[in-house]
Amino acid sequence: MSANSNTFDGVKAVILSAHKSTTSEEKISFYNRWAETYDRDVAVLDYRAPSLAANSISSHFNAVREAAVVLDVACGTGLVAKQMKKLGFGHFVGVDGSKAMLDKARETGLYQDLKQCLLGEEPLPVQWADTFDAVVIVGALSVGQVSFSVIRDLWNVTKPGGYICMTTRSNYDNVEYKAALESELRQMEEEELWTCLEVTEVEDWERAVSEEEDGYISGAVYVYKKH
Ligand SMILES: C[S@@+](CC[C@H](N)C(=O)[O-])C[C@H]1O[C@@H](n2cnc3c(N)ncnc32)[C@H](O)[C@@H]1O
Repeated sequence: MSANSNTFDGVKAVILSAHKSTTSEEKISFYNRWAETYDRDVAVLDYRAPSLAANSISSHFNAVREAAVVLDVACGTGLVAKQMKKLGFGHFVGVDGSKAMLDKARETGLYQDLKQCLLGEEPLPVQWADTFDAVVIVGALSVGQVSFSVIRDLWNVTKPGGYICMTTRSNYDNVEYKAALESELRQMEEEELWTCLEVTEVEDWERAVSEEEDGYISGAVYVYKKH
């Protein structure tokens, strides 16, 4: 990625370049190239999703955090685990499609296991069924990234009584994706697979990068408890 991606215009250019990626493989190649400067660049964007999600799941979690095993899906460089560690969560397993992002996550020393997996195309390991006390997916459920069809896989690997925390963007290009995601979340509640504990709409989610938007875009955090 460019040497000047730490200015707002530089970060904007990097993210807009990602819109050229149409397949999952192209998107993962983009993240492989972005991994080195990702943390610095998302700080410029005032990307708050990891701390918002960590605070939300933490406010509902009523088991022993130090003993809990958290699956961080689309873990990237490990920003969500860093926030959850500060809140007392003890053990993390990470999954991501990008090897370079996983290498950065490994450098944090926070994960007991890291697995490369192309979500939506490859299943999560069958031996993970009913395993995790909490499952989080932050910054990856949006148009052009991870299909919301993975939500049932995330439910499957969560222990009965465990928690699932998800985020998505609420801005203009993600409206259809968000509506379809929410319809699936409601459908799963009607099937009595889980109970909704929280839906929080956040106005200042992160700085807007598109030509069509100014200021901050909005986003949402969802927390569910598996039956
Ligand atoms: C915006 S980053 C979010 C990373 C981290 N959760 C955070 O909040 O900083 C999106 C992550 O999703 C991963 N990703 C995107 N599409 C994916 C797919 N189909 N399968 C696996 N990982 C994917 C990328 O490699 C990247 O690490």
